[in-house]
Amino acid sequence: MESIVFDYIRREEQRQRENIELIASENFASENVRRAMSSCLTNKYCEGYAAKRSDGVGRKGRYYGGCQVIDDLEEYCCQKWREVYKTDYHVNVQPHSGSQANQAAYFSVLQPGDRVLAMDLQNGGHLTHGSAVNFSGRIYDFHFYGVDAQGFIDYEDLEEKARSFRPQLILAGASAYSRIIDFERIAAVAREVGAYFMVDIAHIAGLIAAGEHPSPFGLADIITSTTHKTLRGPRGGLIFCRPELAGKIDGGVFPGTQGGPLEHVIAAKAIAAEEALTPEYKAYAHAIVVNTAAMCREFQRLGYDIVTGGTDNHLFLIDLSRSHPDITGKDVQEWLDKHHITVNKNCVPGDRRSTSLTSGIRIGTAAETTRGRTAEDFVAIADRIDALIRELRDSKAE
Ligand SMILES: Cc1ncc(COP(=O)(O)O)c(C=O)c1O
Repeated sequence: MESIVFDYIRREEQRQRENIELIASENFASENVRRAMSSCLTNKYCEGYAAKRSDGVGRKGRYYGGCQVIDDLEEYCCQKWREVYKTDYHVNVQPHSGSQANQAAYFSVLQPGDRVLAMDLQNGGHLTHGSAVNFSGRIYDFHFYGVDAQGFIDYEDLEEKARSFRPQLILAGASAYSRIIDFERIAAVAREVGAYFMVDIAHIAGLIAAGEHPSPFGLADIITSTTHKTLRGPRGGLIFCRPELAGKIDGGVFPGTQGGPLEHVIAAKAIAAEEALTPEYKAYAHAIVVNTAAMCREFQRLGYDIVTGGTDNHLFLIDLSRSHPDITGKDVQEWLDKHHITVNKNCVPGDRRSTSLTSGIRIGTAAETTRGRTAEDFVAIADRIDALIRELRDSKAE
């Protein structure tokens, strides 16, 4: 008997096929990644870690029998991710998601009430970077560095706050920031004030892997990531750390914040790492950056304000507040959805509207670049979005 669930899956397949997907955190995983995720590995319980690993980190071993294959697989996955980032950092491939990677990282090196300096949600940070409605903001004492009037990270503000607030941890990385992040500068002030330096590369992980964005390896103490955004793997998380923090980080993941690892997803993460090591992936990551810049320039030509006036990575933010003061990000998201274009509403720096309305939209090109779209295609999509926004404005004015 076939379950009704497969009807939902077919409907979603059709929606994805028919829509232009411009959500900056999404991508289309390969057949191999999807095959691994639906494999028999989902049947296996294997809490813990292999007793002996090639990086020399000795562990108590697994809490279940029958983990011989799992041990080899997880070891292979770790090796592949170290290859991707050409690093000797320790890696933990068990976090179920980016949020869990961040939770485990904080849990590993901080105590409740410890001070953290990060970028807030309003300016492009992530919920897990200290939002009041998230565990992070409830458990730790987060303070935030800002962005300047154009939307660039205000490094002077960051340095000043680091010196006066004396955080235990400084966090870099964002969900909606379109510019290169100066990891060296942030690492220097973290060193000066004796804080751990953590970077959440969830969005730009694929660009870093391909050399399209400077790398925080060698500078950061802890690096967290997702594997499903620009990296194009399964939904999941990773944590890298300096070798001396390996024990703390592994303990922070299990038993600190998780139970049994998702080995079917870990297998898919290993495949994503293999894919990220290919010349095709390098060309893909370069194409993302080229396509994003072309699309962004077209919006500017059409009169739209772009936060920071441009982009260096896979996304950009359109600020509608001057060009279309009566239209919210939510209006645009819903209108485009009706016309088979998927974007998400997003706050812009200094936004007067709430996070549920917003004055901006975030656009990313990673998913449609996977579909083989070129810079010319993205320019045509920008023109189509502009026509739809004008239609929306006219319908509101009637
Ligand atoms: C910077 C950043 N960190 C962490 C996450 C959380 O990832 P997940 O949705 O897998 O929990 C996201 C997701 O959007 C993100 O953008």
